[in-house]
Amino acid sequence: MKKIISVVGARPNFMKVAPIHKAFKKVEDKITHLICHTGQHYDEKMSKVFFEDLELPQPDFYLGVGSGSHAEQTANVMVEFEKILIQEKPDLVIVVGDVNSTIACSLTAKKLHIKVAHVEAGLRSFDMEMPEEVNRILTDRISDYLFVTEKSGLENLKNEGVSDDNIFFVGNVMIDSLIYYLPKSENSNIHTELGIEKGKYVLITLHRPSNVDTKESLEKLTHFLNTLSDERKVVFPIHPRTKNNLVKYSLIQSLNHAIILTDPIGYIDFQALTKNAEFVVTDSGGIQEETTYLGVQCITLRTSTERPSTVDVGTNQLIGLDLEKAERACLNVLNGNKKIGVVPELWDGNAAERIVAILTNSRD
Ligand code: UD1
Repeated sequence: MKKIISVVGARPNFMKVAPIHKAFKKVEDKITHLICHTGQHYDEKMSKVFFEDLELPQPDFYLGVGSGSHAEQTANVMVEFEKILIQEKPDLVIVVGDVNSTIACSLTAKKLHIKVAHVEAGLRSFDMEMPEEVNRILTDRISDYLFVTEKSGLENLKNEGVSDDNIFFVGNVMIDSLIYYLPKSENSNIHTELGIEKGKYVLITLHRPSNVDTKESLEKLTHFLNTLSDERKVVFPIHPRTKNNLVKYSLIQSLNHAIILTDPIGYIDFQALTKNAEFVVTDSGGIQEETTYLGVQCITLRTSTERPSTVDVGTNQLIGLDLEKAERACLNVLNGNKKIGVVPELWDGNAAERIVAILTNSRD
């Protein structure tokens, strides 16, 4: 009987591991699948609510690592995860995405000669100032199975000299979750709760250090959001990093009262908000993909994207950090100039099944 441990740490990991866990359930006579939560995200609204929405079982291991500097967080995850690996001796560790828990756990496993599978391999923003880019490159370099979501990932890995034998183009597990839970999100009451009408609001999510860590960038952002709220209802679920910094720089009270500020929102309600938004403004990675799948306009406030298919074939526009340019892009969408997109190849709801089939049939 094979034993596999999947790692979750931060919010964008939960919806990636949920479909993998469901697919492993179907082969539980052959594989024991366990879940380890590092505790990188720990607030109820950043973690527990996702376990409930995504029907994930309680994690088998909880490392309780919490926040800290990059070195502290990464090191603490490594120390705690090593204990679990020594005790459990799994055959394989699965890591997803690009957060600090991803590199911490893959590195720990590899040093103990345990095979590593990276789900969402090969994505590159080519911006080494992003902590996620460092995490992605290093994780891919030491992974034995590289599961790729989009064609750019195949090219990037080939250019980096990864053997074809280790690369598997399987599609996108985040979209698996989206497809699976879309019918349930139809029953969400979030629009009534927030007092908004479907199709008549703009949804905002911003948490990248490049947008929210300095007073100067937050002042510009506040001005941008206030201007936008003159045109449309604005819904802004605030990430703890963003909220902490808005409070720290005494800017939270400068936001227009018309802006609907909320705590982080659970998975099902958030999908309902995304699907029915007139457009979305974000700096998230996953939301660029979800909007592309849903055909919702997305304005991304970043200078690069590691998910180029969302721009090349999807509904995403990469605007950069110039908020005057962003304002013009928003007005353009409000005037009806919408980008028509298609869904990238293999974003069909079956990525996790493909991953589990490959791992079940492998000799490792
Ligand atoms: C992390 C990921 C980022 C991902 C994001 C999604 C890294 C390097 N970054 O960024 O790629 O897009 O998660 O949310 O792994 N905090 C809380 N409660 C929590 C978690 C965090 O209050 O449950 C606060 C703490 O003040 C913490 C700060 O948010 O210091 C940042 O958290 P951290 O996990 O370091 O990074 P994120 O910005 O969330």
